[in-house]
Amino acid sequence: MSEAVFDPSAESLVLPVGEGMTLERLLAVDQASVAEFLVNEWDGFSQFAPAEAGESERDGETKAELACRIVFPGNPEDFNLAIKQERRLIGLLFLDQTNIAGLREIGYVLGKDYRKQGRATRAVGAAIKFAFTGTDAVSLSARTLKDNVASQRVLLKNGFQAGYTGGKIIYFGLSKQRYLDQAADAA
Ligand SMILES: CC(C)(COP(=O)(O)OP(=O)(O)OC[C@H]1O[C@@H](n2cnc3c(N)ncnc32)[C@H](O)[C@@H]1OP(=O)(O)O)[C@@H](O)C(=O)NCCC(=O)NCCS
Repeated sequence: MSEAVFDPSAESLVLPVGEGMTLERLLAVDQASVAEFLVNEWDGFSQFAPAEAGESERDGETKAELACRIVFPGNPEDFNLAIKQERRLIGLLFLDQTNIAGLREIGYVLGKDYRKQGRATRAVGAAIKFAFTGTDAVSLSARTLKDNVASQRVLLKNGFQAGYTGGKIIYFGLSKQRYLDQAADAA
């Protein structure tokens, strides 16, 4: 397994997912279309994204403008990725740095027309592989609402373990060691 860490300042990153899907760096993607996608395809956007990003709506700002501010904070180390199907934007996936060294948080949204066909499970699988082989990550975390069964299944099927539950949120984790052990078992 390659241990070459990807240079975050490099513009281009295209990761194969399989079945016509890729994960691609958002830097080269039209920001307005990404913001529009996020607002239209994720019902939870208004409720969760601003609070999670520590941002609040500014006077006169559209939801798309707010989305742009959240998704494009300008930190190339965050690896904001487009999920594409035959070059079409069908989802977004984030591998954000946290304030804990070596810990990244994964988050994702898939377009409504593309759900329930295993795509998020495959995209998250490819992102985990990249995180543990192409970045400094030694551990990944994720958070889902308690009633977001689909997202929990995506994580569990990719080897995450459920941990602490706080309020409406369940926290999940996956260490690099566990990922490597599972990959060795599957080989
Ligand atoms: C969560 C999300 C990414 C899942 O995408 P997806 O491509 O439909 O997921 P998959 O097809 O890979 O399905 C994964 C599992 O969830 C199950 N699932 C999918 N949608 C479901 C639903 N609405 N209710 C219950 N289970 C569901 C699938 O059956 C599958 O489980 P299984 O293998 O045990 O049958 C997608 O629903 C989404 O974008 N939701 C809005 C954003 C969001 O909630 N993001 C996560 C924030 S933590």
